Amino acid sequence: MNEEMRKYFTPPDLKAAKKRGKQDVSVLEFDQIPDEMKEVGKGKKYLIKTFGCQMNVHDSETIAGILELMGYESTECEEESDLILINTCAIRENAEDKVFGEIGRLKPLKVEKPELVLGMCGCMSQEESVVNRILQKHQHVDLIFGTHNIHRLPHLLMEALMSKEMVVEVWSKEGDIVENLPKIRQDGLKAWVNIMYGCDKFCTYCIVPYTRGKERSRRPEDVLAEVRELARKGYQEVTLLGQNVNAYGKDLTGRDYRFGDLMDDMRKIGIPRVRFTTSHPRDFDDHLIEVLAKRGNLVEHIHLPVQSGNNDILKIMARKYTRERFLELVRKIKRAIPDVVLTTDIIVGYPGETEEQFEDTLSLMKEVEFDSAFTFIYSPREGTPAAKMKDNVPQEVKKERLHRLNRLQDEISRKKNESLQGKVVEVLVEGESKKDPDVLSGRTRTNKLVNFYGPKHLIGRFAHVRITEPRTWTLKGEWMEESSAHQVGS
Ligand code: SAH
Ligand code: SF4
Ligand code: F3S
Repeated sequence: MNEEMRKYFTPPDLKAAKKRGKQDVSVLEFDQIPDEMKEVGKGKKYLIKTFGCQMNVHDSETIAGILELMGYESTECEEESDLILINTCAIRENAEDKVFGEIGRLKPLKVEKPELVLGMCGCMSQEESVVNRILQKHQHVDLIFGTHNIHRLPHLLMEALMSKEMVVEVWSKEGDIVENLPKIRQDGLKAWVNIMYGCDKFCTYCIVPYTRGKERSRRPEDVLAEVRELARKGYQEVTLLGQNVNAYGKDLTGRDYRFGDLMDDMRKIGIPRVRFTTSHPRDFDDHLIEVLAKRGNLVEHIHLPVQSGNNDILKIMARKYTRERFLELVRKIKRAIPDVVLTTDIIVGYPGETEEQFEDTLSLMKEVEFDSAFTFIYSPREGTPAAKMKDNVPQEVKKERLHRLNRLQDEISRKKNESLQGKVVEVLVEGESKKDPDVLSGRTRTNKLVNFYGPKHLIGRFAHVRITEPRTWTLKGEWMEESSAHQVGS
């Protein structure tokens, strides 16, 4: 790596990252695209391939917004693309493997069409080892930028178009918020809205605090204005995004406004459904539960990653809660919202995890009865503390634990769904089912997928559906009637 690149780039560094102070967060406004860049993409097509979480999906919408201001048009076809960007995820090794696979797969296309610009952005770009590997082994990549400098894309793309060298700009500087970024939302019904960026939790296995930087909240007025605007445009649902949404507001200086306050203000906006992801059990306070219990447009679904049911594992994960505190929180939530749907994330095979410790996770799963769970085998991430922990659990044992965990969850999911038999649920109808165009498909307030026969004009609207055939992952039902004009708060 040359000196020019080093200026922008430092490797993930736990010590440095943990020294994050209370430095002020600057709120910058996205500059309008300079006139000379507005025509750069005229007659050209772009394709963004997105990996990873909703944060990345939404970042891709911002990238699309910027590219379209530069005159580019979107395409689904690789062969007709003039620009292909891969928005990457670093959360587990297999996520990274997929990206390297894509980069390799696209090489012949780039060789055949040298004017094609091939770029990489997202969380993997924030890792020094990844950038080095691309520089050494994948010289056909033209552009690398990170998660903190998406707003610089017009300038970087210009550079990439003019230069024969790979353009690499990754900022280790973190802590700014850029407002007014253009966005091309991929869905006309449901929208993602960032409420905060970054993460300061430093769970010992996790790369996100390094790839996404320090926790910083957008100003409440900016978030609320964006949601009001989406409501005006006819969106039916928003999902508020953050790695740890209930830390929202902690970093706002000079005001005491937290996630519970934000949700209380969301209730007053005329948008039928408001979701959020992801909440951390540690920061889930009573005020937030109280506000969520008011319902209205605040749906009764909470994604609450527990990671493990064993106190020693939770401790070495640095999750900062115990099994008992998690169960107490679940009791409180269920008391306030009896029909709440809880979903979770779980990691099996943490370094040194014993059979007994794993069984604590199984028993917690049984006790809570999550409606569904994302389950993962622990994957060591370079630069994180867990990567240095001694791990004597064979991969076969980890796989077998994952299998047992999934079997148990399937049983619980099925039982939960069966309890909906005969019940009438409100479905936001999203479109035709992927498998059968005669079947419509949509989601309940609790985010369960429902398939049913019904007239096409229901697409984009709310329908009442009686559940007739509950399955493990989906529900089949019959259409009752179109919901009358949906009332917020009903
Ligand atoms: N901010 C969210 C999670 C983001 S990552 C939260 O704290 O809940 C999504 C999930 O990926 C995590 O909840 C965790 O279960 C899993 N995960 C993160 N790092 C991992 C790793 N190194 N190996 C395996 N799973 C991991
Ligand atoms: Fe990663 Fe979530 Fe922990 Fe943050 S809170 S370090 S994003 S698992
Ligand atoms: Fe992956 Fe980055 Fe999201 S690592 S899970 S894309 S924050």
